[in-house]
Amino acid sequence: MLTQPRALLLALIAIGAVSLSPLAVSHFDDKEINQSYRQSWFALVASNFGPMASTVKGEIPWDQARMERWSSDLAALTSLDVTRGFAAGSDKGTTRAKPEIWENEADFGSKLDDMTSAVAQLQKTVATGDREAIAEQVGATGKTCKACHDEYKAKNYLY
Ligand code: HEC
Repeated sequence: MLTQPRALLLALIAIGAVSLSPLAVSHFDDKEINQSYRQSWFALVASNFGPMASTVKGEIPWDQARMERWSSDLAALTSLDVTRGFAAGSDKGTTRAKPEIWENEADFGSKLDDMTSAVAQLQKTVATGDREAIAEQVGATGKTCKACHDEYKAKNYLY
C-alpha cells in the first residue's frame, strides 16, 4: 500500500520538473492571449492535417477510419473563428504573424476562406474513399496553407 502514494509523489515531481522546462510554456501565455489563441488553433490544424499529408505520401499506412476522423476534426476546427486571435494590437509579441495581415485584412480573410472551403471539400472527398482523389484534395488544401504563409507568416518569430 505504501508504493502507490510513493508512485504518485514521483509522478508529481516528474510533472513539476516538466513544467519548469521551456517547452511546457509552448502555447499558452496569458499576457499574449490572442497570439496564444491563434497559435494553438494552427497547432491543432497542423496536428490533423499533417498525418493526412503523411498518409497520402505513403509515409504512414493508410487507415481510412483515421483519415475520416482527421478530416472531420479539421472541418470542426474551421468552424471556430480564428480571426478572434488576430485582434487589433496583437501584431507584436511572440509571433510569426506579419504586420501586413492588419493592412490587408480582407485578403487575409479570403485566404482563410479558401482554406475553409478546401477543408470542407477534403472531408467530402475522404468520405468517398477514393485514394487518388483524396491525395489530390490534400494537395489542394496544402496549397491554401502555403498561399497564406507565403504572404503573412514569417519563418521566425518577429519580435
Ligand atoms: C489565412 C492565413 C493562413 C492559413 C490559410 C493557414 N495559416 Fe498557418 N499560420 C498563419 C499565420 C499568420 C501564422 C503565425 C501565427 C503566429 O505566430 O502568431 C500561422 C502559423 C502556423 C503554424 C505554427 C503554429 C505555432 O505553433 O505557432 C502552423 C503549424 C500552421 N500555421 C499550419 C497551417 C496549416 C497546416 C494550414 C493549412 C491546413 C495553415 N496553417 C493555414 C496563417 C495561415
